[in-house]
Amino acid sequence: MERCTNITSNQKYRLYLHYNNEEEADRLFCRHHFDHSVSVARLTYLLLLEEGQPFISREIAYAAGLLHDIGRWKEYQDGTDHAKISSELAGPILKEAGYSLSEQQLIKQAIAQHRNKKTENVHRSPLSKALNKADRLSRICFECEARDECYKLNEQPHQRRLIL
Ligand SMILES: [Fe+2]
Repeated sequence: MERCTNITSNQKYRLYLHYNNEEEADRLFCRHHFDHSVSVARLTYLLLLEEGQPFISREIAYAAGLLHDIGRWKEYQDGTDHAKISSELAGPILKEAGYSLSEQQLIKQAIAQHRNKKTENVHRSPLSKALNKADRLSRICFECEARDECYKLNEQPHQRRLIL
């Protein structure tokens, strides 16, 4: 998992998460801090294992989870779609961490698609599907104090109870 450690210690990665923390300091709804990224990374890998996708390595699954929201701060600042900008920002970090070009492309595509619920007419890799599902499963909505005001509650798997 050395390449994942390279991601978490990358200065750009730390800076983007810091920006997320700053932008969400007073946010009532879901935040996009490091702990969310780690939760999504773990769940992404777990889902891939459950679905029988052993050819996607743990380092690839974790990279997608760790990096999938690194551009969230940009969306708060100027409305840029955070999936798109997170994918772009992930490129240099993945390269510096030692991921091959084909791995970078797979991970970046999954990040760019992580908000897409619909799959029609869009090529999605198993990694892309797992990342999207893991992102939603990571939120324990029934424990959230902002649940009554959340526009996404009805789409969330844990809206009433823990789904195991
Ligand atoms: Fe996101």
